[in-house]
Amino acid sequence: MTEIKNDRFLRALRRKSVDRTPIWIMRQAGRYLPEYRVTREKAGDFLALCKNKQLCCEVALQPLERFDLDAAILFSDILTIPDALGLGLYFEAGEGPKFRKTIQNLSDVENLPKISIHNDLSYVLDAVSLIKYELNNRLPLIGFSGSPWTLAAYMIEGQGSKNFSKVKAMRYQDPMLLHLLLEKLTSCVIDYLNAQIEHGVQVVQIFDSWGGLLSHDSYFDFSLNYMNQIIKGLKIVHGDNIPIILYTKGGGQWISDIAKTNCDCIGIDWTTDIRSARQKVGNLVSIQGNLDPSVLLSDKSMIRNEVSKIIESFGPHPGHIFNLGHGITPDVKPDNVNEMIMAVHDFSYQFS
Ligand code: CP3
Repeated sequence: MTEIKNDRFLRALRRKSVDRTPIWIMRQAGRYLPEYRVTREKAGDFLALCKNKQLCCEVALQPLERFDLDAAILFSDILTIPDALGLGLYFEAGEGPKFRKTIQNLSDVENLPKISIHNDLSYVLDAVSLIKYELNNRLPLIGFSGSPWTLAAYMIEGQGSKNFSKVKAMRYQDPMLLHLLLEKLTSCVIDYLNAQIEHGVQVVQIFDSWGGLLSHDSYFDFSLNYMNQIIKGLKIVHGDNIPIILYTKGGGQWISDIAKTNCDCIGIDWTTDIRSARQKVGNLVSIQGNLDPSVLLSDKSMIRNEVSKIIESFGPHPGHIFNLGHGITPDVKPDNVNEMIMAVHDFSYQFS
């Protein structure tokens, strides 16, 4: 494997010692950065931006120009798969994602086309290649996908939702139909992530953003089970060479079970105590997280204080990757992001 100049993130994912805790930020390329808003304007809209490899690469690198981060992430979206499956993704200014078509019944699921990642999602793979080339092995590149459950939630609902009542209703009214959809999505996600890896990503993260909506038993059957299959599908091809991060928002109670999937790292949100998370998983996996993104709306001394609490709670063990507990929000000041990063640098040096 080619040598990466800054390999702190890869080392922490492997629970190896590091000089300081690595940090990257979920949604690090996004609307809180004025330069991102300029590039999105140039592209026309968000989806056009995702489909233009030059502009995708530009925005993926923007946070790295500004901040001392330890990883780059592909610029794209989790909803590219449902779009390729013919649902017609669109974004209206100021609103979240929407689909022209939704999944409601058996024929909707049966009629989903068989997609070829290399043809139908070639724009994502082209962006991976270009970002990787421009990074020139300065930092590791993260690829990603939504979990089958989270993708299904958007496909059935047709848009974001407070409680995702349609997909929750389907879970009880027609669980076999939901399983059929989840199986199809699982196979797409395996192909999609394997293709991203072939094009150069060195780590993958699965975003199970809505896993926390499921009841205790349902989480295992309808979300974790499929993420487990994805992990197997990647490990079969790449062995242990590609670390896999599994992030379930609201998944704090399932950490010990998630650790048994053979993933390499668990992303946790801010509702979980990182000290007890680390105690539960020991040295089996690393932990990523978990600052409440709202802390970044406060002032510098509060930011420093909250960062130091997380670093101290995790303790001087290898295997921590600092991140927010969920994506950064558009109302955050870039200066506050810098303060967080500096604080991570300052406080984690004590442990080296
Ligand atoms: O982390 C990164 O910098 C990589 C890029 C990235 C985006 N979306 C860009 C984006 C990643 C990793 C995602 C993942 C994603 N997309 C998730 C999982 C993570 C999470 O937040 O739970 C989800 C649920 C989506 C679906 C999605 N895409 C939503 C709900 C939205 C609207 C969000 C909002 O804040 O309005 C998007 C749009 C989106 N994806 C934006 C960006 C930068 C904002 C679009 C814009 O420029 O207007």
